Amino acid sequence: NAAENLKRTSFSILLLLSTRHVTSSMNVIDRCWRDQSNWDIDRQRLVVCSVGLARKMQQNRGRGVTAYTVTDPSDDPVRPKPGTLRYGATVLPGRVWITFQPGNMHIRLAQPLFVKSFTVIDGRGADVHVAGGAGIVLYEVSNVVIHGLHVHGVRAQPPGQVVRPGGAVQNMDASAGDAIRLLSSSKVWIDHNTLARCEDGLLDVTLGSTDVTVSNNWFHDHDKVMLLGHNDQHVADRRMRVTVAFNRFGPNVNQRMPRIRHGYAHVVNNFYDGWREYAIGGSMGPTVKSQGNLFIASTPDSANVTRRTPVGHAAGKDWHCHSSGDSFENGAVFKQTGSRVRPNYNRHQAFSAVSAGEVRSLTKDAGALRCFPGAAC
Ligand SMILES: *[C@@H]1O[C@H](CO)[C@@H](O)[C@H](O)[C@H]1NC(C)=O
Repeated sequence: NAAENLKRTSFSILLLLSTRHVTSSMNVIDRCWRDQSNWDIDRQRLVVCSVGLARKMQQNRGRGVTAYTVTDPSDDPVRPKPGTLRYGATVLPGRVWITFQPGNMHIRLAQPLFVKSFTVIDGRGADVHVAGGAGIVLYEVSNVVIHGLHVHGVRAQPPGQVVRPGGAVQNMDASAGDAIRLLSSSKVWIDHNTLARCEDGLLDVTLGSTDVTVSNNWFHDHDKVMLLGHNDQHVADRRMRVTVAFNRFGPNVNQRMPRIRHGYAHVVNNFYDGWREYAIGGSMGPTVKSQGNLFIASTPDSANVTRRTPVGHAAGKDWHCHSSGDSFENGAVFKQTGSRVRPNYNRHQAFSAVSAGEVRSLTKDAGALRCFPGAAC
């Protein structure tokens, strides 16, 4: 009996130690909620954990938020049925918090899914794949959180009808096959998603979108990863401000992590596990503050972290790209240009970057997490 007790005690001590260890190796966002074993009861805690330019997502919590569970993986882009993702994300009025029935769910969207303002899509506790069909669109919305989804295999779609926030059904042009697109949207937090193998981009922030935090995502097996700023002419993107933090890029990625036009990006504490053309690209006078990232080149021929894009385009000469505290392995080369830049964070956005040496461990759980009720996630 005594031996049994001793065994139990040492087992609890071991558990305690390993929990401590997990907590201490979490980044500032994860540390805020992942060690809470009641995360599934107090789901709203998540939205006070965001940092960076999206700030805290306070508007997405409180008594007035409608809880909605997705139980039906089917999709009707015009008349979505209650129980489907599209019904909760586009049609249901008010502030909405969407979760998914536990287990595996595969949703093939027949047309892009238009997410309305004040919506949280929370994949924790389920294994949710938005795959093989259209992607997710945020158009002229604000206060949106997308957390814990796997989005992959998104394909170009022909024109068709689709319901928009507010309930109007509109004709939709053909879509290119992006996983997640932000158009003219602000205050958006994209956290802990796994994005891969889509026909076009994995994440686009365009048409004057701003105040966005992209954190803890895992982007892999893809060509054009993240586009910030739609085209050279779109000067509204000068006000675009995006934080890219604690993400894992790679393996098997080619370019745009991100590619930025016009605006400002703070790229901090990300893990770059190889790339082919370049990691960070810019044109049209954007400002990039690269801080505390770990860049591991895959081959000597793919060692340039930075690229002014398109190469040889005179208008793109003037970009400001500054590296501070980044770590370079396997011959990775970062070319700094322009004047020194710093994050213009206010006290609601600020967080301290960790050293690049900690990035590998702080991004090891990037992507959608597997969380179970009653246990730390
Ligand atoms: C890397 O950058 C340098 C100068 O910045 C350039 O001369 C070289 O061609 C680039 N290498 C590749 C493979 O693009």
